[in-house]
Amino acid sequence: MEETYIINGGRKLSGEIEVEASKNAFLPVLAGSVLVDGEVEFLNTPEFSDIQNMCEILKVLNIKVNRSGKYLKLNTESIKNEKITHDLTNKLRASIFLLGPLLSKFKEASISYPGGCNIGTRPIDIHLSAFRSLGVKIVEKHGYIYCNAHNMKAGKVVFSSVSVGATESVMMSAIFLKGKTTLYNVAREPEIRELARFLNEMGAVVRGAGGDIIEIEGVKKLHGGTFSVFPDRIVAGTHLILGALCGRKMEIKGVRKEDNQLLLNILRESACEIEEKNDRMVISASEHIPACRFLETLPYPNFPTDLQPQFMVLESVANGTSVIKENLFENRFNHVMELVKMGADIFVKDRLAIVKGVERLYGADVSASDLRAGAGLVIAGLIADGYTTIHNLHYIDRGYERLEEKLKLLGADIKRVKIE
Ligand code: EPZ
Repeated sequence: MEETYIINGGRKLSGEIEVEASKNAFLPVLAGSVLVDGEVEFLNTPEFSDIQNMCEILKVLNIKVNRSGKYLKLNTESIKNEKITHDLTNKLRASIFLLGPLLSKFKEASISYPGGCNIGTRPIDIHLSAFRSLGVKIVEKHGYIYCNAHNMKAGKVVFSSVSVGATESVMMSAIFLKGKTTLYNVAREPEIRELARFLNEMGAVVRGAGGDIIEIEGVKKLHGGTFSVFPDRIVAGTHLILGALCGRKMEIKGVRKEDNQLLLNILRESACEIEEKNDRMVISASEHIPACRFLETLPYPNFPTDLQPQFMVLESVANGTSVIKENLFENRFNHVMELVKMGADIFVKDRLAIVKGVERLYGADVSASDLRAGAGLVIAGLIADGYTTIHNLHYIDRGYERLEEKLKLLGADIKRVKIE
């Protein structure tokens, strides 16, 4: 039994859609909960399958997990240091973020190599070399990584290359290290700042997150508390692009201007009407969307790779030709073939996609290949002429909450159907 979306495209969308809490902040924050002695409560937990899977892994560590709707309570009093096995890292690549907290808490950790995924091999060499530079002994054997941090000391880490996950995991590994640990060449994504905010609210001393240098002063322990995670800037960006294509005063609640500045500038240049109200943005599509000419994905504060597929849909019906360069992942153009099935005119060469805008897209039978490609295909189906069927919805469910219900409230003709 498979679930698919059936979308009848071409409608203008209006009404209000709310952005959920950030998946890419919630996942490291949940991993960071391992460091807390006691109870942590979260008040705005989204129904993303990635979050559910991370909670399943926390249960393997004997953390008590109580959830009801958006409310999530974790109790770490009976936490145990268990091996993070292959089936767990396979289900959730972000389980690698647990390495730092487990080393902090237990001085030892064993974790299976997280699989790659459809967008790339996703190595973890940057994580491991950073841990080694703080004195962690690492043995890689039979697909597992065995880490021993008994001689780990506060010190200086210069990341060999910018990595969001490595910055987060190593930051968490230094929380209890006596003295000051300084991280250089760090990722500056807003999610890093949000993780530091969580850790500091639980009693950590982390300074400079979001900037070029992060300093961690070791503390003895972290206490519990209550926390709400900030809105998901990638979900917000997804809805902004949708609104730019078929919104009619579409209200997006929870867009933080500072997290989507670049996209907002681009959309305003395409003459979309975007009105900023206190905690929301109201967007109406423009009839004439000029091609963006050139856009490349780079670490924050540049254009985020996680909005590249959605942005490509915008460019596929823009006036003119645009070139999109994907610098972060070596295989993040799987959505191109699906968009071409819908009438898009896109040519890919290595890391470049040349997108020649067409008048309109046409409904087709397409398949999501990863989370953000799936989100892009939903946007494409909503603006295409005719019916689009989208397969592999489990990818979309990883980072979008009941998307079909929320889009229906905006006036979209979208159904989630089970097919044999
Ligand atoms: C985080 O992944 C996000 N995931 C990704 O979002 C996002 O695309 C990515 O950051 C970049 O912004 C979460 O936060 C859970 P990286 P992460 O380490 O930490 C290479 C989504 O759709 N690299 O910054 O894995 C890597 O292959 C997901 O929500 C190494 O070579 O990303 C990539 O090319 C997709 N060695 C680049 O660095 C390493 O040890 C950036 O990866 C680590 C990474």
